[in-house]
Amino acid sequence: MSEVRRVVVQDCPGGPLLIRGADEVVGGDGTVGKVERPVVALCRCGRSERQPWCDASHRARRRRKKD
Ligand code: FES
Repeated sequence: MSEVRRVVVQDCPGGPLLIRGADEVVGGDGTVGKVERPVVALCRCGRSERQPWCDASHRARRRRKKD
């Protein structure tokens, strides 16, 4: 019998998707990333150098828009 797990996805406007409760994340290219934290952030802006994870590069884009 398989275990039912609850995974929560939270939208952070202008930033990443926060994923709570996942064991692994599968990227668009099929790469499987093991999740070893209770919460991980997935990049949505495409600027992270650690894809699929958010490295906070989205913050630089927001600051430039305010200049
Ligand atoms: S959403 Fe944070 S670096 Fe892309």
